[in-house]
Amino acid sequence: MSAGQTRTLTVYDTAIGKKAAVAVTGVVLFGFVIAHMLGNLQVFLGPKALNDYAESLHAVPTVLWAARLVLLGSVAVHITFTVQLVAISNAARPVGYRSKKSLASTYASRTMKLTGPLLLAFVLYHLAHFTWPGLAMGAYSHDPADVYGNVVRGFSVPWVCAIYLVAQILLGLHLYHGAWSLFQTLGLSHPKYDRVRDLAPKLVALGVVLGNLSIPLAVLSRVVR
Ligand code: HEM
Repeated sequence: MSAGQTRTLTVYDTAIGKKAAVAVTGVVLFGFVIAHMLGNLQVFLGPKALNDYAESLHAVPTVLWAARLVLLGSVAVHITFTVQLVAISNAARPVGYRSKKSLASTYASRTMKLTGPLLLAFVLYHLAHFTWPGLAMGAYSHDPADVYGNVVRGFSVPWVCAIYLVAQILLGLHLYHGAWSLFQTLGLSHPKYDRVRDLAPKLVALGVVLGNLSIPLAVLSRVVR
């Protein structure tokens, strides 16, 4: 481009564009977390229900890989733009506020910086555990055709359950602050929406934590076996 020429700003250039992309990919990932949890809860319906469900997910490889690519792309955009936004915000405020303007938003972003990378580590561990086995630890043998059996054997190891327990709490915090920030990005910070904005993220996060945790706890207590 020659000197003096201007270029239209794209979503990559503007902080607001990046925030919107983080929000949209967050919603996609959130949708996955809910769908994945509802699918997994079929463990309470017995081996056939869960295994049939897992088989149906793998039935059309093109669809499965398309969904995986959307997920991977969303994770990549979510992380890259978040890192860039943190860099932009640090560059704009190199010295730091003497007194914090909003304790709530500072606490939320600090929590996200901690829970985000830890969740990524959990997802890698989780993939090694149930999807591409080999690194799964504890007395666990993997059978790709028996997802129900994998879940029962996987969660029969108490310290593996402990990892999942910690991860679900991190996930709950991440979802809570993510939903809270989404409402801010969408401009729903008007007092009229106060109750919804305060309550909805808490309920959603709690629902996901309890739903996901019910599975390892049911195996440990031998309700599911
Ligand atoms: C206690 C809660 C959870 C249970 C019982 C569980 C169970 C499973 C199982 C059994 C699989 C393998 C499915 C198959 O082979 O068909 C799987 C895959 C997966 N899980 Fe989870 N999961 C849990 C929580 C999570 C969470 C919190 C996340 C993400 C934040 C997650 C992300 C994934 C991903 C990305 C895959 C791979 C999907 C694919 O094949 O492309 N899971 N999970």
